[in-house]
Amino acid sequence: MAGRLDGRVAVITGGGSGIGLECARRFVREGARVVLGDRNPEPLAAATDELGADAIGEVVDVTEESDVERLVARAVEHFGGLDTAVNAAGFGTFGFVADHPVPEWRAVIDTCLTGVMISVKHEARVMREAGKGAIVNIASINARVPAEGMSAYCCAKAGVEMLTKCAAMELGPAGVRVSGIGPGFVDTPLTAFTQVVPAIREAYVASTPLGRAGQPDDIADAAVFLVSDEGRWVSGDTLFVDGASMLKAYPDLHKFAGG
Ligand code: NAI
Repeated sequence: MAGRLDGRVAVITGGGSGIGLECARRFVREGARVVLGDRNPEPLAAATDELGADAIGEVVDVTEESDVERLVARAVEHFGGLDTAVNAAGFGTFGFVADHPVPEWRAVIDTCLTGVMISVKHEARVMREAGKGAIVNIASINARVPAEGMSAYCCAKAGVEMLTKCAAMELGPAGVRVSGIGPGFVDTPLTAFTQVVPAIREAYVASTPLGRAGQPDDIADAAVFLVSDEGRWVSGDTLFVDGASMLKAYPDLHKFAGG
């Protein structure tokens, strides 16, 4: 049976873990070949081992422009081009604005927002040349929903939603689509700390009308739709894949921080 991404080449940042890794698995199942970029070498090597000849990996820090250039160049050199990309590298910190160390704030903005911009920049250059391509930026419900203690992350993700719109306007005439996905709470290594404090995970699930935490494949399925031909007239929008949790109040993180 024909895959929905047959013959496509994808770059996936944050591809060594969680949502990025699941996108890689799903893209390969749909016929794509993938170049995974991650700053963490061990999980990256495990991911490319798992995926075999359809995947290669590069250790990159998305905040370093030369790293991202190298990542995109690998797709062109090894697989002959670049059709699609998922920009999933990201992390958050916890700290209240009045006490937030500025270097920590900058680190979150640098990876979660500037890293996405640098990625879109270099992915789009190759796609623009080819006159086609589709990019998905992973934002978060926190692009729109404020959370106490997560100001840097929320601001970065709000920026990603706006970057997606601006890039879609600029690149549309060149045939390149740019979309976003805003996940709700998803079980990944990023949220694994909530296994240690189950009350936090329970609070997220309680604020999710569909009654469960998200799984990485919930997000990967949306990414396949957006980059495949089925998403051919979608660009500039961020699709919130969150079990309807944006409709309910955000968990009271202040309480868990002892505030
Ligand atoms: P994860 O921690 O499992 O995967 C993130 C990957 O990004 C890791 O492998 C990490 O090494 C890599 N990474 C981080 N900073 C990097 C950098 N500067 N350069 C290169 N690689 C870097 O986390 P998860 O959950 O898969 O997160 C993926 C994306 O989804 C992130 O952007 C996150 O903010 C977003 N997201 C996650 C949610 C969740 O509940 N898990 C909810 C909403 C958004």
